[in-house]
Formats: sequence, structure tokens, C-alpha cells
Amino acid sequence: MEILSAEFVISNAEASKCPDSNLPEYAFIGRSNVGKSSLINMLTKRKGLAMTSATPGKTMLINHFIVNDNWYLVDLPGYGYARRGKAGQEGIRTLIEDYILEREQMTNLFLLIDSRLEPQKIDMEFMEWLGENGVPFAIIFTKADKLTSGKLKDNINRYVRQLRDQWEELPPYFISSSENKLGRMDILDYIENINNS
Ligand code: GTP
Ligand code: MG
Repeated sequence: MEILSAEFVISNAEASKCPDSNLPEYAFIGRSNVGKSSLINMLTKRKGLAMTSATPGKTMLINHFIVNDNWYLVDLPGYGYARRGKAGQEGIRTLIEDYILEREQMTNLFLLIDSRLEPQKIDMEFMEWLGENGVPFAIIFTKADKLTSGKLKDNINRYVRQLRDQWEELPPYFISSSENKLGRMDILDYIENINNS
């Protein structure tokens, strides 16, 4: 799919205030600093469209971006950032969960996982929660440029093995780098296929 236009629409602190629209939306979730906002910029080829930072906890709200005037990309705050404190983390968690459960237009969630790390408990638990709630999702392994190809393959294989132990059916997965645009076309084609189905 070609990106003809991509524009920021609105930021919200409540799921119920998101745009009044029936267009399909694709949301990005994962631990703080995993690269959600950077991936949105990479996919749209718009540097600075979504705000990124080397410090975790940058995205605090639900951010809608409209693409090609007919679907949304949604940047969500990350979970699991310890320095937010317990109350802060719970607030973010509620915001994320309300959005995912209440937003009927949310067509597919992309769960981002840092390809450098071994499977993290917080991500596994989040995936279980998605399964329990019947939320359609795909996995994106991020920051692939930070690993050698051998190490990347090892890490993905290890992850997939663990997922196979837990899931009857493996969720679709992609490997990405916002530095060198790895995975861009695959992810956009995946979205296009769902939009056209
Ligand atoms: P929060 O909004 O805090 O939840 O973080 P986020 O998941 O939106 O992460 P963000 O996109 O802000 O990126 C965090 C840091 O990782 C930034 O310093 C990015 O430049 C860096 N980063 C993101 N993606 C990649 C990638 O594919 N490769 C490399 N090398 N760095 C990346
Ligand atoms: Mg962000």
C-alpha cells in the first residue's frame, strides 16, 4: 500500500472521547520505549508525526492519525514503565484496556516486542489478556537493526517456541526496524488486506 497522506487528528485521555468515526483503526501497544511511535513515523514516512523519545514514558495519551483519508493509526502509551509509580501505571493500564475493549473500530492491535530481549513476563501476560478478551492482534519484533542477523533469528525462534507452548494458533508476526524500514511493506500490506476484506 502506498501512503498518500498521514495527519495527526487528536490526542485523548479517555477512550470514550476518541474520534466519532466508523473508519477502521490499527493500534500500537507494548512496553514503554519499545518503538511504537517510531514505527508509526516509519510506516507513514513522516518523521515527527508521532512524538518519540529515548526516555521511556513519552506517549501519555491515545493519539489518532488518519492515513489516506480512510483509516487510522493509533499510538498508545506504553505499559510497564516502573518510574511512573504504581498509581501512574494503573492509570495508563486503565486507559489502554478501556480503549482496547470499548473501541469497536479497533480492527487489529499490533503488539510490539523488543527483538533484543528474551520473552518478558509482562508481555506474555498482556497477550494472555488479549486472548481472554478475544482481541485480534499481531506481533511486531522491533529494533531488528540492533542485532546481528544470527542473533535476531535465534531470538525470534526462541520467542516463537515459547508462543507455541502457550497458543494453539500462532499470531501473525513481523520483524521491523524503524532505522532501516525493515518490515514496512509487509505491515502495510497486512493492513491493506484487512481493510479490503
Ligand atoms: P513510549 O511512548 O514511551 O511508550 O515509547 P515508544 O514505544 O513510543 O518508543 P519510541 O518510538 O519513542 O522509541 C523509543 C526509543 O527507541 C527512541 O530513542 C527511538 O529512536 C528508539 N527506536 C525506536 N525504534 C527503533 C528501531 O527500530 N531501531 C533503533 N535502533 N532504535 C529505535
Ligand atoms: Mg510513544
